Amino acid sequence: MDLVKSIKNEETLCLYNDCVGDLIKTEIVQSMDQYIQHGNITCLDHCKNVSLKSFKICKLLNLDYKSAARGALLHDFFLYDWHIPGSHVGLHGFRHSKISLENAEKHFNINNKEKDIISAHMWPLTLRPPKYKESFVVTLVDKFCSSKEIVNHMYKRFITVPFKTRKSK
Ligand SMILES: [Fe+2]
Ligand SMILES: [Fe+2]
Repeated sequence: MDLVKSIKNEETLCLYNDCVGDLIKTEIVQSMDQYIQHGNITCLDHCKNVSLKSFKICKLLNLDYKSAARGALLHDFFLYDWHIPGSHVGLHGFRHSKISLENAEKHFNINNKEKDIISAHMWPLTLRPPKYKESFVVTLVDKFCSSKEIVNHMYKRFITVPFKTRKSK
């Protein structure tokens, strides 16, 4: 049973890689690894998390999992560290989906669904709702992953580490 499960996982990962491999291996996508997104998670790791989970959910729901995986991988492709004052213009929360779309269009050939996934991923904070089911999946997965990354970071920072420090004294 475990063998069947691991073969299935392997197949899923291979299919996922077929969908996004060409994007992931580029220098510009790899450059997202220098920017922190939440806690100690980089933009690249965050985007990969959202992309893989969106891919799996869309595959399960018989949706366009390839566009979901590709759009999600580029959803936070804004290419700056939003924690650093002066790194960007305006409010990051409201503007970064537009900047990510501009960067994605500049560097890659992306389809309409992928464009919508990127530009609508901050809904409902940004008012334009997702046009496609895949975009809606990505907005939910992004919120789930972001919350999980923030909670994990807070847990490590304020609970686990002080407790370990107290114990070692
Ligand atoms: Fe975002
Ligand atoms: Fe995100």
